[in-house]
Amino acid sequence: MLEIKDLVVSYGKIKAVKGISVTVEQGQVVCLIGTNGAGKTTTLRTISGLLRPESGSILFEGERIDRAPAHKIVTMGVAHSPEGRRIFPRMSVEENLLLGGYSRRDSELKDDLEAAFELFPILRERRAQPAGTFSGGEQQMLAMGRAMMSRPRLLLLDEPSMGLSPLMMQRIMQTVRTLRAQGTTILLVEQNAQAALKLADHGYVLEVGSIVLEGPGRDLLASDEVRKAYLGEE
Ligand SMILES: Nc1ncnc2c1ncn2[C@@H]1O[C@H](COP(=O)(O)OP(=O)(O)OP(=O)(O)O)[C@@H](O)[C@H]1O
Ligand SMILES: [Mg+2]
Repeated sequence: MLEIKDLVVSYGKIKAVKGISVTVEQGQVVCLIGTNGAGKTTTLRTISGLLRPESGSILFEGERIDRAPAHKIVTMGVAHSPEGRRIFPRMSVEENLLLGGYSRRDSELKDDLEAAFELFPILRERRAQPAGTFSGGEQQMLAMGRAMMSRPRLLLLDEPSMGLSPLMMQRIMQTVRTLRAQGTTILLVEQNAQAALKLADHGYVLEVGSIVLEGPGRDLLASDEVRKAYLGEE
Protein backbone atom coordinates (compact mmCIF):
# COMPACT_ATOMS: atom_id res chain seq x y z
CA MET A 1 0.00 0.00 0.00
CA LEU A 2 2.82 2.37 0.91
CA GLU A 3 6.32 2.05 -0.43
CA ILE A 4 9.03 4.44 0.70
CA LYS A 5 12.33 4.04 -1.13
CA ASP A 6 15.69 5.60 -0.23
CA LEU A 7 13.99 8.63 1.29
CA VAL A 8 16.23 11.58 2.17
CA VAL A 9 14.75 14.63 3.92
CA SER A 10 16.78 17.66 5.00
CA TYR A 11 16.18 20.88 6.88
CA GLY A 12 18.71 23.14 5.18
CA LYS A 13 22.06 21.48 5.75
CA ILE A 14 20.76 19.06 8.38
CA LYS A 15 19.85 15.63 7.03
CA ALA A 16 17.03 14.38 9.26
CA VAL A 17 16.19 11.26 7.23
CA LYS A 18 19.14 9.60 5.53
CA GLY A 19 17.86 7.21 2.88
CA ILE A 20 15.25 5.02 4.56
CA SER A 21 13.05 2.39 2.90
CA VAL A 22 9.78 1.36 4.54
CA THR A 23 6.97 -0.83 3.24
CA VAL A 24 3.44 -0.96 4.63
CA GLU A 25 1.18 -3.74 3.40
CA GLN A 26 -2.55 -3.21 3.24
CA GLY A 27 -4.33 -4.15 6.47
CA GLN A 28 -1.21 -3.99 8.62
CA VAL A 29 -0.18 -1.90 11.57
CA VAL A 30 3.46 -0.97 10.96
CA CYS A 31 5.34 0.87 13.66
CA LEU A 32 8.33 3.14 13.54
CA ILE A 33 10.15 3.42 16.84
CA GLY A 34 13.20 5.47 17.75
CA THR A 35 14.49 7.95 20.28
CA ASN A 36 14.11 11.75 20.19
CA GLY A 37 15.28 13.31 16.96
CA ALA A 38 15.48 10.02 15.05
CA GLY A 39 13.41 11.39 12.16
CA LYS A 40 10.03 9.77 12.85
CA THR A 41 7.92 12.92 12.62
CA THR A 42 9.90 14.11 9.61
CA THR A 43 9.07 10.84 7.84
CA LEU A 44 5.32 11.14 8.54
CA ARG A 45 5.25 14.81 7.50
CA THR A 46 6.96 13.90 4.23
CA ILE A 47 4.44 11.13 3.49
CA SER A 48 1.53 13.51 4.02
CA GLY A 49 3.08 16.15 1.76
CA LEU A 50 3.95 18.74 4.42
CA LEU A 51 7.66 18.35 3.62
CA ARG A 52 9.39 17.64 0.31
CA PRO A 53 12.01 14.94 0.09
CA GLU A 54 15.48 15.77 -1.18
CA SER A 55 15.58 12.41 -2.93
CA GLY A 56 13.89 9.04 -2.94
CA SER A 57 10.30 8.14 -3.69
CA ILE A 58 7.00 7.48 -1.92
CA LEU A 59 4.33 5.38 -3.61
CA PHE A 60 0.79 5.08 -2.25
CA GLU A 61 -1.23 2.34 -3.92
CA GLY A 62 1.22 2.43 -6.80
CA GLU A 63 1.11 6.20 -7.37
CA ARG A 64 3.95 8.61 -6.66
CA ILE A 65 2.87 11.05 -3.93
CA ASP A 66 6.21 12.62 -3.03
CA ARG A 67 5.53 15.66 -5.22
CA ALA A 68 1.79 15.84 -4.63
CA PRO A 69 0.29 18.65 -2.53
CA ALA A 70 -0.94 17.73 0.95
CA HIS A 71 -4.65 18.26 0.18
CA LYS A 72 -4.40 15.88 -2.79
CA ILE A 73 -2.77 13.22 -0.61
CA VAL A 74 -5.69 13.47 1.84
CA THR A 75 -8.22 12.94 -0.94
CA MET A 76 -6.21 9.95 -2.18
CA GLY A 77 -6.82 8.31 1.20
CA VAL A 78 -4.00 9.21 3.59
CA ALA A 79 -4.76 10.98 6.90
CA HIS A 80 -2.33 12.27 9.51
CA SER A 81 -2.91 12.52 13.25
CA PRO A 82 0.02 14.79 14.15
CA GLU A 83 2.45 14.82 17.05
CA GLY A 84 1.08 17.00 19.86
CA ARG A 85 -2.49 16.49 18.56
CA ARG A 86 -2.86 20.04 17.17
CA ILE A 87 -6.50 20.46 17.99
CA PHE A 88 -8.06 23.92 17.78
CA PRO A 89 -8.71 24.78 21.45
CA ARG A 90 -11.34 27.50 21.05
CA MET A 91 -13.41 25.51 18.58
CA SER A 92 -15.91 22.91 19.71
CA VAL A 93 -15.25 19.20 19.50
CA GLU A 94 -17.66 18.92 16.58
CA GLU A 95 -16.08 21.84 14.71
CA ASN A 96 -12.66 20.21 15.14
CA LEU A 97 -14.03 16.96 13.72
CA LEU A 98 -15.59 18.71 10.75
CA LEU A 99 -12.21 20.25 9.86
CA GLY A 100 -10.95 16.72 9.35
CA GLY A 101 -13.74 16.18 6.84
CA TYR A 102 -13.02 19.22 4.69
CA SER A 103 -12.27 17.02 1.67
CA ARG A 104 -15.59 15.16 2.01
CA ARG A 105 -18.95 15.97 0.41
CA ASP A 106 -21.61 17.58 2.61
CA SER A 107 -23.81 14.54 2.14
CA GLU A 108 -21.08 12.29 3.58
CA LEU A 109 -20.23 14.40 6.63
CA LYS A 110 -23.13 13.23 8.80
CA ASP A 111 -22.09 9.58 8.41
CA ASP A 112 -18.43 10.49 8.96
CA LEU A 113 -19.30 12.27 12.21
CA GLU A 114 -21.37 9.30 13.27
CA ALA A 115 -18.40 6.97 12.66
CA ALA A 116 -16.10 9.18 14.77
CA PHE A 117 -18.72 9.25 17.55
CA GLU A 118 -18.99 5.49 17.44
CA LEU A 119 -15.23 5.12 17.71
CA PHE A 120 -15.10 7.48 20.72
CA PRO A 121 -18.55 7.99 22.33
CA ILE A 122 -17.22 10.79 24.55
CA LEU A 123 -16.88 12.95 21.43
CA ARG A 124 -20.63 12.73 20.93
CA GLU A 125 -21.45 13.52 24.56
CA ARG A 126 -19.12 16.52 24.53
CA ARG A 127 -19.61 17.65 20.94
CA ALA A 128 -20.34 21.27 21.94
CA GLN A 129 -17.48 21.57 24.47
CA PRO A 130 -14.47 23.75 23.54
CA ALA A 131 -11.75 21.28 22.57
CA GLY A 132 -9.13 23.13 24.64
CA THR A 133 -10.90 22.06 27.83
CA PHE A 134 -10.41 18.38 26.97
CA SER A 135 -7.89 16.27 28.91
CA GLY A 136 -4.80 14.96 27.10
CA GLY A 137 -6.39 11.59 26.48
CA GLU A 138 -9.61 13.14 25.25
CA GLN A 139 -7.64 15.43 22.93
CA GLN A 140 -5.88 12.37 21.53
CA MET A 141 -9.24 10.74 20.82
CA LEU A 142 -10.34 13.95 19.12
CA ALA A 143 -7.18 14.07 16.99
CA MET A 144 -7.71 10.48 15.87
CA GLY A 145 -11.43 11.03 15.31
CA ARG A 146 -10.62 14.10 13.21
CA ALA A 147 -8.12 12.15 11.10
CA MET A 148 -10.72 9.42 10.52
CA MET A 149 -13.19 12.03 9.20
CA SER A 150 -11.52 11.90 5.77
CA ARG A 151 -12.20 8.11 5.68
CA PRO A 152 -8.52 7.28 5.13
CA ARG A 153 -7.30 3.92 3.90
CA LEU A 154 -3.92 4.73 5.48
CA LEU A 155 -3.73 6.48 8.85
CA LEU A 156 -0.46 8.06 10.01
CA LEU A 157 -0.36 8.28 13.81
CA ASP A 158 2.41 10.29 15.47
CA GLU A 159 2.98 9.38 19.14
CA PRO A 160 -0.63 8.91 20.17
CA SER A 161 0.35 7.70 23.66
CA MET A 162 2.48 10.75 24.51
CA GLY A 163 1.74 12.01 28.03
CA LEU A 164 -1.13 9.60 28.66
CA SER A 165 -1.80 7.42 31.67
CA PRO A 166 -1.19 3.68 31.19
CA LEU A 167 -4.93 3.10 31.14
CA MET A 168 -5.62 5.77 28.51
CA MET A 169 -2.66 4.49 26.50
CA GLN A 170 -4.20 1.01 26.48
CA ARG A 171 -7.46 2.52 25.33
CA ILE A 172 -5.73 4.25 22.41
CA MET A 173 -3.82 1.09 21.43
CA GLN A 174 -7.09 -0.85 21.56
CA THR A 175 -8.57 1.69 19.15
CA VAL A 176 -5.63 1.12 16.80
CA ARG A 177 -6.52 -2.58 16.84
CA THR A 178 -10.18 -1.77 16.19
CA LEU A 179 -9.31 0.45 13.23
CA ARG A 180 -7.12 -2.28 11.75
CA ALA A 181 -9.96 -4.79 12.19
CA GLN A 182 -12.24 -2.35 10.36
CA GLY A 183 -9.81 -2.28 7.44
CA THR A 184 -7.69 0.82 8.06
CA THR A 185 -3.97 0.40 7.47
CA ILE A 186 -1.85 2.22 10.05
CA LEU A 187 1.68 3.60 10.22
CA LEU A 188 2.27 4.19 13.92
CA VAL A 189 5.12 6.27 15.33
CA GLU A 190 5.83 5.59 18.99
CA GLN A 191 8.46 6.08 21.65
CA ASN A 192 6.60 3.55 23.74
CA ALA A 193 8.25 0.59 22.03
CA GLN A 194 6.63 -2.05 24.19
CA ALA A 195 3.05 -1.02 23.47
CA ALA A 196 3.65 -0.40 19.77
CA LEU A 197 5.60 -3.56 19.01
CA LYS A 198 3.07 -5.71 20.86
CA LEU A 199 0.38 -4.89 18.35
CA ALA A 200 2.41 -4.12 15.22
CA ASP A 201 2.56 -6.60 12.36
CA HIS A 202 5.93 -5.17 11.38
CA GLY A 203 8.29 -2.68 12.93
CA TYR A 204 11.26 -0.50 12.04
CA VAL A 205 13.81 1.00 14.42
CA LEU A 206 15.07 4.42 13.38
CA GLU A 207 18.28 5.90 14.75
CA VAL A 208 19.50 9.36 13.72
CA GLY A 209 17.83 9.16 10.34
CA SER A 210 18.63 5.55 9.44
CA ILE A 211 16.85 2.24 9.90
CA VAL A 212 19.00 0.00 12.06
CA LEU A 213 16.62 -2.89 12.60
CA GLU A 214 13.36 -4.21 11.18
CA GLY A 215 11.15 -7.24 11.51
CA PRO A 216 7.83 -8.60 12.77
CA GLY A 217 6.69 -6.68 15.88
CA ARG A 218 7.03 -9.69 18.16
CA ASP A 219 10.53 -10.50 16.93
CA LEU A 220 11.70 -6.94 17.56
CA LEU A 221 10.14 -7.00 21.01
CA ALA A 222 12.12 -10.14 21.77
CA SER A 223 15.41 -8.91 20.28
CA ASP A 224 18.31 -8.08 22.60
CA GLU A 225 19.04 -4.77 20.86
CA VAL A 226 15.51 -3.47 21.32
CA ARG A 227 15.27 -4.73 24.89
CA LYS A 228 18.50 -2.96 25.81
CA ALA A 229 17.98 0.29 23.93
CA TYR A 230 14.22 0.83 24.29
CA LEU A 231 12.96 -1.22 27.18
CA GLY A 232 15.81 -0.42 29.57
CA GLU A 233 16.77 -4.03 30.13
CA GLU A 234 20.31 -5.29 30.67
N1 LIG B 1 11.77 22.48 11.29
C1 LIG B 1 12.99 21.99 11.53
N2 LIG B 1 14.11 22.70 11.25
C2 LIG B 1 15.35 22.18 11.49
N3 LIG B 1 15.57 20.95 11.97
C3 LIG B 1 14.51 20.21 12.28
C4 LIG B 1 13.17 20.68 12.08
N4 LIG B 1 12.30 19.71 12.47
C5 LIG B 1 13.07 18.69 12.91
N5 LIG B 1 14.39 18.98 12.79
C6 LIG B 1 15.51 18.09 13.14
O1 LIG B 1 15.37 16.89 12.41
C7 LIG B 1 15.72 15.76 13.22
C8 LIG B 1 14.57 14.77 13.26
O2 LIG B 1 13.46 15.37 13.93
P1 LIG B 1 12.05 14.65 14.07
O3 LIG B 1 11.11 15.63 14.66
O4 LIG B 1 11.69 14.03 12.78
O5 LIG B 1 12.40 13.51 15.12
P2 LIG B 1 11.45 12.50 15.90
O6 LIG B 1 11.99 11.13 15.68
O7 LIG B 1 10.03 12.74 15.55
O8 LIG B 1 11.72 12.91 17.43
P3 LIG B 1 10.72 12.96 18.70
O9 LIG B 1 10.63 11.55 19.18
O10 LIG B 1 11.43 13.83 19.68
O11 LIG B 1 9.42 13.50 18.25
C9 LIG B 1 16.11 16.33 14.58
O12 LIG B 1 17.50 16.42 14.62
C10 LIG B 1 15.48 17.70 14.59
O13 LIG B 1 16.20 18.61 15.37
MG1 LIG C 1 8.39 13.32 16.60
